[in-house]
Amino acid sequence: MESGTTFRPRPEAILVLGLNSAYHESSACLICNGRVVAAAEEERFNRVRHGKRATLTNPHELPVQAIRYCLEAAGITAADLDLIGYSISPDKRLAFNVGLDEETTPGLAGTAEGEGLFHRLLLLIPQRLSSLLGEDVSRKFRWIDHHLCHAASVFFVSPFDEAAVLSVDGIGESTSTWMGIGRGNHIEACREIRYPNSLGFLWTKLSRFLGFGPYGQWKVMGLAGYGDSDRYYQAFRKFVDYDNSGGFAVDSRTLQYRVDKYDALERLFGPRRAPEDHIDGRHEDIAAALQRVTNEALFSLAAFLKERTGMKRLCLAGGVALNCVANGLLVDQGPFDEVFIQPAANDAGTALGACFYLWNQVLGNHRAAALDHVYLGPEFAEASSDEPLCGEGFVPVGADGLESAVARLIARGEVVAWFQGRMEFGPRALGNRSILADPRRAEIVHCINDRIKHREYFRPFAASVLDEYASAWFEVGRPCPSDAFMLCARKVRQDRLGSIPAVTHVDGTCRLQRVCRDTNPRYHRLISEFKRLTGVPLVLNTSFNDSEPIICRPRDAVNTCRKAGIRYLAVGDRLVDFQAGRPGFGKTLAYSNPVGTEVRRGQDDGGLALADSNTSTAVESPEVTVSALERILGHLTDAERAALQQSVKIAFRSR
Ligand SMILES: [Fe+2]
Repeated sequence: MESGTTFRPRPEAILVLGLNSAYHESSACLICNGRVVAAAEEERFNRVRHGKRATLTNPHELPVQAIRYCLEAAGITAADLDLIGYSISPDKRLAFNVGLDEETTPGLAGTAEGEGLFHRLLLLIPQRLSSLLGEDVSRKFRWIDHHLCHAASVFFVSPFDEAAVLSVDGIGESTSTWMGIGRGNHIEACREIRYPNSLGFLWTKLSRFLGFGPYGQWKVMGLAGYGDSDRYYQAFRKFVDYDNSGGFAVDSRTLQYRVDKYDALERLFGPRRAPEDHIDGRHEDIAAALQRVTNEALFSLAAFLKERTGMKRLCLAGGVALNCVANGLLVDQGPFDEVFIQPAANDAGTALGACFYLWNQVLGNHRAAALDHVYLGPEFAEASSDEPLCGEGFVPVGADGLESAVARLIARGEVVAWFQGRMEFGPRALGNRSILADPRRAEIVHCINDRIKHREYFRPFAASVLDEYASAWFEVGRPCPSDAFMLCARKVRQDRLGSIPAVTHVDGTCRLQRVCRDTNPRYHRLISEFKRLTGVPLVLNTSFNDSEPIICRPRDAVNTCRKAGIRYLAVGDRLVDFQAGRPGFGKTLAYSNPVGTEVRRGQDDGGLALADSNTSTAVESPEVTVSALERILGHLTDAERAALQQSVKIAFRSR
């Protein structure tokens, strides 16, 4: 593994490590003099979704591999660290959680026994960390309130000098929602809402109720687009209350969050859905009403914050800030002129927030440049060599380069896995660990959801659009710097509806990522090539995984391609064809011509084959082959025919 940077700190540099492992999304982040050197989630290394189970019994399971990566990336040891921030305050958690619920599960959250255990295990962390690092770091170690970490994670890296700040998640110590103000290098709370009044837990419980488990919020959000929010809106309003005075309340007797019971919800919504049950209109309507209530609640909090702070801009973080539907509405129609959302808005981002809280607020340093990309994870030397890909069928990409070859594959309907550079920090694949496809092809949604990613039929796909063309294809009225991070659903422009069905949700929106030349030049070149071929300045982009954490290393990429049946993998400068060498397919002999035709050795007859038609043609000479291929391809321009002739000649020589 390579560090991903050529960074080496100067002797006088201040180095701050931020950590999160309190509940889930375990992560580590390292900053040097206010600049992020490295940040990564543990799940990418240990291949366990969310890093570990979110229970009170394991907060001391540290993100060991993410920590090692951060130190390696900076070329330092623990002795070089100046401060270490951790994203929770154990004493506050213990003080405010016992006795809040009518119903609890013995030994778990909200009970004296469960909270006492959690507290004891949290307090082990400095000692555990010292053992891990081989250095006593207890004097450098600081506990930081969870929501201060969320708030710091967004405001201190935002492009705003001053802003209102809103952090909304399940729970920190006891706070679920934190509202405040940020100015320069200082943030300050103006109101906090405590458990059980939690939008994050409302979504977790309803996700369980709808049969998707505790992490099915993405599924509920996708399902909501199909439903009618009117049917269950009033049912939600019976136990979820809000107005524009900055309050928000959830009746815990109805939500029953800390017990595995659903009788109160079933009285409002009918029977709970089991995971294997069919999804019907009732489930869609419940999801739609939940989304509507969430939108309204967030708007009411935003209205209060606007009134209280007088700010024109808003910074948004916390797990609920990953709700791209609410985000899109808040950006376009909310009370703030501009909104910045932390790309790792979930608990992973609190590691980054812990760093900046210490650097800016505690040490009093001025802020550096805003965060404009999240390519903060590891990159790998193997990505540009044969390891661990030796034995795979590399495809010559031709003089016009990898981006052109991949764009041609996508344009002809192939799904291509795309592995480049440094891994993204946060839950979104933004063009370095992505699976890409043609957004014009409706049928490809079924192909990827069903065959590759094994997801539900109703889950929409996002789009990566060239920054320069975003407003020509989507309704992006108000500027939002976080559009670079795929955090908002935007309406597809009326005149483009129907032309990109694979990335258009049933409600006419698309979750989009604006791709800038400066922050990801290779990805920008690829989409530009696709536009040159098709006239469409965007590709379908879904995370490179199959029911697992997003891939990290080249070997993860190979494993996932094989498991999910993805045929093409672009890795570093190389293009791999996993079907080359399989029975029934010949070795790829040439692949580089404007018509995107791949010429292969025929399996039995020694002839040549067109990969996309799976047609083999017996041949005697290159000229005969070109004629045969031309009959299949239809009309060719002179330039295309010349390129095809060149490919066939190469193929003949390679036979
Ligand atoms: Fe959180």
